[in-house]
Amino acid sequence: MASAAFVFVTHQIAMTRWLKAEVRERASSLHFAFARPGLSTFKISEGTLGPEFELPSSFARAYGLSLGRASSAAEVLALVAQLPDEPIHLHVFEREIDVPVDEQDFALRQTRATVVDASIRNESRDRFLAPRIPALGELVVDVVVAHPTQPDDGWLVGYHRHHPGHGVWPGGVNHVSPPPESPSRAWCKIEEVLRWADFSVQPGDDAIEIGSAPGGASYALLCRGANVYGIDPGMMDPRIQNYVGAAGNRFVHLHKPAAEVQKNEIPRRYQWLLCDVNLAPMIALRYIERFVALAHGGLRGAALTLKLNDDGVAAALPSLRSRISKLGAKRVEYTQVPSHRSEIVAILRF
Ligand SMILES: C[S@@+](CC[C@H](N)C(=O)[O-])C[C@H]1O[C@@H](n2cnc3c(N)ncnc32)[C@H](O)[C@@H]1O
Repeated sequence: MASAAFVFVTHQIAMTRWLKAEVRERASSLHFAFARPGLSTFKISEGTLGPEFELPSSFARAYGLSLGRASSAAEVLALVAQLPDEPIHLHVFEREIDVPVDEQDFALRQTRATVVDASIRNESRDRFLAPRIPALGELVVDVVVAHPTQPDDGWLVGYHRHHPGHGVWPGGVNHVSPPPESPSRAWCKIEEVLRWADFSVQPGDDAIEIGSAPGGASYALLCRGANVYGIDPGMMDPRIQNYVGAAGNRFVHLHKPAAEVQKNEIPRRYQWLLCDVNLAPMIALRYIERFVALAHGGLRGAALTLKLNDDGVAAALPSLRSRISKLGAKRVEYTQVPSHRSEIVAILRF
């Protein structure tokens, strides 16, 4: 097949400037080509990239090589015909709009993607696998369409080979709307992160959350059967404080700043570490480093929210990444899920 000339990236609209700056700095062979709101493309100016390439970006939600543009299922299939004759996943998803997800009509999201997905599958006569989470190395065709509140301005067709640097759902992950009993919107953030990363929190696992009040993220972990040790000088929602799960799992509130927590107050080993403190990331990292060490090698995953309050923090990203890379994880990925505002997440797999 002909080698791809462009890379596509989907992202939040507010992050376009930072995405472009980061790609310029970290991937010098990629040159910004054109953008639609929530979708940027970069020309590959030197060498070639295969579908397994990893984009060094903290703001990408989904990315891959571009096959071209289409406006019908038949045109999509003509582009897909260039790909190797192997089982292929189909991911159809929508670009973001410049409205925070919790202010959008949730019922509308994915409606256009669903219609386009069905039209391509109908036309394709089993060219695509039935929807399931891609395994490592499997090929995924990405079809990026406009948000349902926007005019249909054509579809970008791309592809990637799945690896942990990609979210497992179409477009990385869609927004997950909160259940009415969730104490905070942070439930959406952690749900989207757990889904993007395909982290499987199991009943009986132990988790530490630094910055747990009022308890949205803790609630997501408790519902998966984990015991949660929440560290926060703030008040927890009583529903979290008194939660007893089907697995007998509970919430333990360490009602103090992270610096004051003693090691005998937490389990000797724990599997999951979350951090969502409203502190500058460089300061939060001091606590994270300590709680990674205190897990005594038991960690399977960590999700660290990094607040990006101004250009200074974006400029500090290289040193943040450097410190995070020393935490001992096998892999670290960065992304921004739909519920994030001025923040990104570092996802660590141990
Ligand atoms: C964005 S909120 C956390 C939301 C929470 N994860 C949830 O799911 O509801 C940030 C929290 O960080 C806490 N925080 C700030 N400094 C802290 C520190 N030094 N140690 C622990 N928590 C801290 C604040 O009290 C606040 O509750």
